[in-house]
Amino acid sequence: MKKTEEIIYRNRKGTDCNKWDALKERFGAEDLMPLWVADMDFEAPACVREALAACAADGLYGYYKVPESYYEAFMSWEKKYHGYETQRQWLRYSPGVVPAINWLVQILTEPGDGIGVMTPVYYPFMNAVKDNGRTLVDCPLKEDNGRYTMDLERFRELAGQMKLFILCSPHNPVGRVWSYEELKELLDCCKENGIFVLADEIHHDLIAGDKEHVAAATVGDYSHMLVTMTAASKTFNLAAMKNSTVIIPDETVREKWDAFTGRLHVGDGGMMGYVAVRAAYEGGREWLDGVLSIIKDNASCLREALAAELPEAVMSPLEGTYLAWVNLAAYVKPEDMKLVVQDMAGLAVDFGEWFGGSAYAPFIRVNLATSTENVKLAAERLCAAVKSYGGR
Ligand SMILES: Cc1ncc(COP(=O)(O)O)c(C=O)c1O
Repeated sequence: MKKTEEIIYRNRKGTDCNKWDALKERFGAEDLMPLWVADMDFEAPACVREALAACAADGLYGYYKVPESYYEAFMSWEKKYHGYETQRQWLRYSPGVVPAINWLVQILTEPGDGIGVMTPVYYPFMNAVKDNGRTLVDCPLKEDNGRYTMDLERFRELAGQMKLFILCSPHNPVGRVWSYEELKELLDCCKENGIFVLADEIHHDLIAGDKEHVAAATVGDYSHMLVTMTAASKTFNLAAMKNSTVIIPDETVREKWDAFTGRLHVGDGGMMGYVAVRAAYEGGREWLDGVLSIIKDNASCLREALAAELPEAVMSPLEGTYLAWVNLAAYVKPEDMKLVVQDMAGLAVDFGEWFGGSAYAPFIRVNLATSTENVKLAAERLCAAVKSYGGR
C-alpha cells in the first residue's frame, strides 16, 4: 500500500520568517504564539523540496526562460480542480496577488474612481484603493449568527459608484466559499453596470467544508470584464517564492497589462519560484489533502473549545481558507481586545479592526495552519484570558 505523505510541522522561530520572527515589529512583543500572517507552519510538499534541491545543486542560475511545462502544470490544475479552462496566452506573471491588484487598479481606473469591496475583507484591498488615490465604495457583508452573505440589494444601489470591484473568493477573513448563485447575481450586476471585476482566488484550493470553490470565470461570459488572480503560494505554502498568476482573457486588457508591466520592467520573476510551483501542481495534491484534514481538525478543535468555555463566542463556519473568524463581543469590550488576546492570552492574531474598521473590533482572525497542539494551547489560553478578564 502506498504510504501517504507526512505533513511536517516546524517551529519556525529563527528561520527569518515574518510570522514568527517579526512579532516585535508588528505587535511590540516577542513572546507571543504566532497565529497571524496567512502562511502555514508546515514544510512544503516533498516534491517541491526535491525539485528545489535539484535546482540548487545544478549550479546554473543565469537568465531563465520559463518552460512551457510550468504553464501546462498551472492550466491542468485549474482545469482539473476548478473547471476553469485557461489558455496559455491569457497567463501573466506577478510576484504576488497584492502587487497585481495594485497594478490593475492603476491600469483599469483613474484617480478618484470608485472601487468596491465587501468588508470585512483582506485589508490590502482597501490599501490598494486608498494608496492609489481611488475612492473606496464599501458594501459590507451581511451577517447572521456568524454566517456571512453578500448584500446584493445594497450592491445594486452602490453599483453606479463603482468602476471596479475586488472580489475575495473564498473570502478572507469570514471563510465563505461563494456559491454559483451568489457569484452569478454579483457578476451579472457588475456586467449590467459596466463594473470591471478583479477576482482574488488565492485561497481557491483551501476548501475546509463540503462546498466546492466556484471560479468566477466559469459562472458565465465575463471575459471582457474579469481578471482572475491566483497562486500556489497559499495552497502549498510557497509565499516566499514570489510567484503568482494573473489570468487575463481579454486581449485589450492584456495589451494594457503588458504595456504597464513593460514600463515597470518587472520581468518574469525568479527561477526557483517557477520550479517550486510547477512541482507543487504536478505532485502536491496528496500533501494538500493531508493539510486540509489537519485544518479541519484544527477548526473543530477551536470550535469545540469555544463552545465549551465561551458559548457566546461566535466562530464563523469555515467553508474555505485556514483562517478562523471569531466574534468575542459577548465577552470583551472592543477597546480591550488587545489587552485580552495579546497581553493576557499571549496570542498574535489579526485583529478584526484591520479588516474594515471599528465595526469589526470585537473580532479576531486566527490562523489554523499550524499544529493541532498549538491550536489547543491557543484555545486554552484564549478561554482562560477571557474568563479572567470577565472576572475582574
Ligand atoms: C485574499 C488574499 N489575497 C492575497 C494575499 C497575498 O497575496 P500575495 O502574497 O500573493 O501578494 C492574501 C494573503 O493572505 C490573501 O489572503
